[in-house]
Amino acid sequence: MKKDKVIFFDTTLRDGEQSPGASMNLKEKLLVANQLAVLGVDVIEAGFPVSSPGDFDAVETISRQIKTSTIAGLCRASEKDIKTCWDAVRYAKKPRIHIFLATSDLHIKKKLQKTRTQILNMAVKAVKYGKSLCSDIEFSAEDAGRSDMDFLCKVVEAVIDAGANTVNIPDTVGYTTPVEFGNKIAEIKKRAPNINKTIISVHCHNDLGLAVANSLSAIENGARQVECTINGIGERAGNASLEELAMALRVRPHYYNVCHSIKTNELYNASKLVSRLTGISVQVNKAIVGANAFAHESGIHQDGILKARETYEIMNPSDVGVPESSLVLGKHSGRHAFFKRIKDLGYRLANKESELLFEKFKNLADKKKTVFNEDIVALIEEGATSCCKETFVLDYFSAASGTGTVPTATVKILKNENDKKQAKPIVFREAACGSGPVDAAYKAIDKIVKMDIKLTEFSLRAVSSGEDALGEVFLKAKYKGMVYSGKGASTDIVEASTKAYMQVINKAIVD
Ligand code: KIV
Ligand code: ZN
Repeated sequence: MKKDKVIFFDTTLRDGEQSPGASMNLKEKLLVANQLAVLGVDVIEAGFPVSSPGDFDAVETISRQIKTSTIAGLCRASEKDIKTCWDAVRYAKKPRIHIFLATSDLHIKKKLQKTRTQILNMAVKAVKYGKSLCSDIEFSAEDAGRSDMDFLCKVVEAVIDAGANTVNIPDTVGYTTPVEFGNKIAEIKKRAPNINKTIISVHCHNDLGLAVANSLSAIENGARQVECTINGIGERAGNASLEELAMALRVRPHYYNVCHSIKTNELYNASKLVSRLTGISVQVNKAIVGANAFAHESGIHQDGILKARETYEIMNPSDVGVPESSLVLGKHSGRHAFFKRIKDLGYRLANKESELLFEKFKNLADKKKTVFNEDIVALIEEGATSCCKETFVLDYFSAASGTGTVPTATVKILKNENDKKQAKPIVFREAACGSGPVDAAYKAIDKIVKMDIKLTEFSLRAVSSGEDALGEVFLKAKYKGMVYSGKGASTDIVEASTKAYMQVINKAIVD
């Protein structure tokens, strides 16, 4: 008998991006969207178009470029939101409008100050309007986990009659437990007479660490779409993690008896990409994609694994795409091998970008004995986080520090005049002292750019191993109330730090 398919709806670019500090720029969102398409995600929720011009642009660009997955945009139950959402998703091969409205009494009374009857009417009106624009409509009953079942079933029935193709039951605050949530899905299936005309979806938050368990329980009870994110990032404690759901269904096929289209050997690439672009690292013991997910420490386990892998391993690292070896290219490697490696690492880049990257790789290979996969990924993502228009370009820097000396730095920066296309850049030189060489370099840059930038986060890590390892700096900084991130990689950590700072400055100017 043919198995039912569970639709994977990924909301990394919408709910995931609501994680504190996880915001991504357009280039970064496109990289993620491309990887989600390669991963086989059925629906990509690309953003909340009415929320900001940046979100609108991201949804529109992703709609135009990604052809294999459905592209959804989120909107509230108002005509303006729905129309704006449609204007952003309409270019997709398979567009979807995702309308949400709260159905719990708490939200209805306290947040929306409305009555249940008003909510029911708003939901129906919104779905009908959405349907007049787009054939694929999803309706989400926000805070369904705490909604009164009689009212929830009434809303579900009414929005299906109004044309909703998918009805989503979110556990918005991660309050329910697996058996309870599964029972809710079973009850909705039993009580809404027109339920067979729609797909039941679930969207579980992880406040009690139960998002994946709740989603799986919902699948057991008839849900056929799961909303999830890469690495489980999302509002507060996050959403159900896509990689955990996909692997649970793959490892226990006879238990769940459903199929899905996720190419699990792309999970590792997706996880790495999202963690690097958002700056949210994956905890080492995270299921499926954590650094220790396949590491066996105890002697008894190691002995068992050597005798028969399945004694202590329920899946192979290769099932989720963990690379066999991280040793890769060197200074004699050619273009072809390099481009193939980029592809194997899960990146789809335009020719121009690949060529530019090849130049950077060659420069790095001159400085470093061995270039690892992680180094290449750092170079790719340094490019991805950079800003389209670079007003200030770091041309030169030098820094000095040592015991008993005052750390100093000198920088030379070129300023491109935006409005004068052919004009030569203006050259600035400055020097400054600081508490360390990075601080001194930042102070020298500040003297030139004259922007009041406040650093809120600074992290430095060695991208690969060895004394010549590439250092990667990730920064977050505030300027005029907005948070900007920047990334820089170099074998010299002061250079990596200044590159990251220049990115922040250029991003802030563009905004
Ligand atoms: O958590 C939630 O309820 C949501 C909805 C907008 C689907 O994110
Ligand atoms: Zn959510």
